[in-house]
Amino acid sequence: MSKKPLILGIESSCDETAASLVTENDVGKPIVLTNIISSQVDIHKEFGGVVPELAARSHVEKIDLIVKKAIKESGKKIENIDAVASTAGPGLIVCLSVGLSFGKAFASSINKPFIAVNHLEGHAISPKLNSELNFPYLLLLISGGHTQYVSVQSLGNYKRLGTTIDDALGEAYDKTAKLLGVEFPGGPQIEILARKGDSEKYKLPEPIINKGGCNLSFAGLKTAVLKITKTIKNEQDKFDLAASFQKTINKILYKKTKIAFNEFEILNNPKEKVFVIAGGVASNEGIRSTLISLCKKNNYKSIFPALDLCGDNAAMIALVGLEKFKSKKFSDLDHPAKPRWPLDEKAAFLKGAGVQLK
Ligand code: KG4
Ligand code: ZN
Repeated sequence: MSKKPLILGIESSCDETAASLVTENDVGKPIVLTNIISSQVDIHKEFGGVVPELAARSHVEKIDLIVKKAIKESGKKIENIDAVASTAGPGLIVCLSVGLSFGKAFASSINKPFIAVNHLEGHAISPKLNSELNFPYLLLLISGGHTQYVSVQSLGNYKRLGTTIDDALGEAYDKTAKLLGVEFPGGPQIEILARKGDSEKYKLPEPIINKGGCNLSFAGLKTAVLKITKTIKNEQDKFDLAASFQKTINKILYKKTKIAFNEFEILNNPKEKVFVIAGGVASNEGIRSTLISLCKKNNYKSIFPALDLCGDNAAMIALVGLEKFKSKKFSDLDHPAKPRWPLDEKAAFLKGAGVQLK
């Protein structure tokens, strides 16, 4: 039996300091030995959002402890590690720089290869940590900073089919939560409030629902929610608004995903139709059940990461590291931190005023 690679993954792109050790079994199935995550929610709560300077300072304070813990609890020794993989982008540059520099220094001190990882690629293949995953598949990435439909041809080969032209879906949840007076990070709380509300009470806009292919837009929702919050009289109104928001999101995703299915099939003519939903917002139960039922109707297999692997973590970074290690795709020690690093580098930039959609 040949020795299986042992990869240390490090993540610090936003407000989670994380480290993980990942290896694989004899048939190439990844095994997460440890997955340590330290969240900074308490630091950013009073500001209602992530403050980059404070986030970076906290990463600096914690990173060595988190890495030490990940190694210690794995039962492995430093000398067993075969490569170090760090997130190099996209994300907040001051935050990325911490995990990236730490990873590079760690790799060179143990004289092992360093691997720079795209955080979005981590989310894209994260379900491989708990499910079998074959290429090609359609990916819906829904996180705090990104929302896109991507045809994943293979590791490193992505074709973006649609993207948000303004806010990311997680951002829309967080902004709505803030308007409803819910503490940061509000996304998950909206789901809880929505359970007590009447989803038919408020009619919210469904931006670009009938144009723009599977591109998406959420900024108009936030403006509508803002207007309605001024008329809210009691807690029940709040629950009703949260429920109406959740229902509108489900409707938008249902319609846009059908379009993405079609585009994915034209592009790949796949034997097996697989739809992966990943990123922090993929833990939303309403979205999960809406997309699962759409998949059943359209003969797609739906795959989600385990709930604890939807949000930011280092196991998904170590997993990309493992795959790249096996194909000897190592990075130089001068690899830069990349605040913007799209999966599909050829796709047009579609954010901001003046974007024309058909
Ligand atoms: O993937 P992630 O942890 O970080 C980024 O890479 O952005 O995603 C974080 C986002 C936040 O906007 C958070 O509010 C949202 O995911 N989120 C949710 C839920 N859980 C996390 N949004 C809606 N419903 C949830 N259950
Ligand atoms: Zn993320």
